[in-house]
Amino acid sequence: MTHVAPNAAFVPRPAFAGLAPYLADAPKAALHLADNTNQFGTPPAALHAIRTAATADLSEYPPSSGPQLREAVADYLGVAPNEVVLGCGGDNVIDCAFRAFCEPGQRVAFPDPTFVMARYFTVSNGLTPVAVPVRGDGSADTTALLETEARILYICAPNNPTGMQPPVAELRMLLERATGIVMLDEAYAEFAGETLVREVVRQGRAIVVRTFSKAFGLAGLRLGFAVGAEPLILEIEKARGPFAVSNVALRAATAALTSDLPWVRDRVRQVLAARHEFVRLLHERHFTPLPSAANFVLVPVTDSRAVAQRLAEQGIGVRAFTQLTGIGDAVRITIGPPEAMHRVADALAALAA
Ligand SMILES: Cc1ncc(COP(=O)(O)O)c(C=O)c1O
Repeated sequence: MTHVAPNAAFVPRPAFAGLAPYLADAPKAALHLADNTNQFGTPPAALHAIRTAATADLSEYPPSSGPQLREAVADYLGVAPNEVVLGCGGDNVIDCAFRAFCEPGQRVAFPDPTFVMARYFTVSNGLTPVAVPVRGDGSADTTALLETEARILYICAPNNPTGMQPPVAELRMLLERATGIVMLDEAYAEFAGETLVREVVRQGRAIVVRTFSKAFGLAGLRLGFAVGAEPLILEIEKARGPFAVSNVALRAATAALTSDLPWVRDRVRQVLAARHEFVRLLHERHFTPLPSAANFVLVPVTDSRAVAQRLAEQGIGVRAFTQLTGIGDAVRITIGPPEAMHRVADALAALAA
C-alpha cells in the first residue's frame, strides 16, 4: 500500500502550467471592443424573460438537457433536437467535446493563429496540441491540417482572431477526408451568413460549435451549443453532465430564438454596414486590416500592446495580440455602432501619426 503523507505539499499538474494568463479579464473600457460581443445590446424578448423570471426558476433545478431550447435551436438550424447539445458557452461545449472524443495524450490539430481556447482545452485535458501555421495569406492550411491525422481537427469559420472565412470547398474537403473528428467552430456564422451545420450532421464524424454570445447578444448568460449526429451529441452530453444551463439562460435564449430573430438579423446587418465603413476608414488611414467575415477586424500594428494601452487611456478597449504566426503584432477590434468606429479609426490614426 502506498503511504500518502498527511499535509503533503500540493503539486500542480504540469499540464496546467502556463494556463493562468488565459483566465485574466480584459479590463472593461467605456467602449468595450475587446471580446467580439454584441455592441447593439440584447434581444428585448430575452431581457423580458430574465426580468420576469419566476421564483421556481431560481429555487428549482433546470431540466437536465434543456429540451425546449434544443427544439428552438433545431428549428433555427433545420436539424433535429437530438442533434443539439447545450453548454455553458461555446467554450464549455469545446471542452466537453475534447473529453468526450479523446483519450489523454491524443492530438488536437488547429490552425495557428486561431481561437485561443482551442489550445487551452487541449492542454487542460491532457491532450497534445498540434498548431498548423496559416498560409501566407492568413488562411487556414486545410491540407496540412488533414496531414496531421489528429484525433480532432478544430477549425473556426470565420476564424478568430483573423476574421477570415475559410472557403466552403476547403471545409467540405476537411469533412470528407478527415480521419478523426472535425470540430467546426461557427461562433460568428450569423455574420458570415454561411453554415455547414446540415452537412456536418449528415457526415456523422463532425460537430459544429455555436454560441449565443455574439450575434445573439447574450455573452453574460453563458450559453452555447454543439450540433452533430446524435451519437456524437450524446457523448458530449455525457462529458458535460446534467443541469449545465440555468433556467434563466434557457428561458432567455428560447425567447430570443422564438421572438427576436428579426432583431438579431437587423443587428447583424448593422454590424456588417459598420464594418464595411470601418475598414474603408482604416484603409484611408493607411492601415491594412485582414479581410473579415465576422463582427471584428484584425489590424496589424507595430506594437500591439502599446496601441491597446494608448487606446485604453482614451476609454477604448481592444484586444492586443503579439507576434501572431504569419501576421506579427495586431489589435482585434469588435465592430460597434458607426460613431464608435469613427472614433476608433481617428484614435488609431492619431497614434500612428
Ligand atoms: C471562435 C470562438 N468560439 C467560441 C467562443 C466561445 O464563446 P462563448 O463561450 O462565449 O459561447 C468564442 C468567443 O470568443 C469564439 O471566438
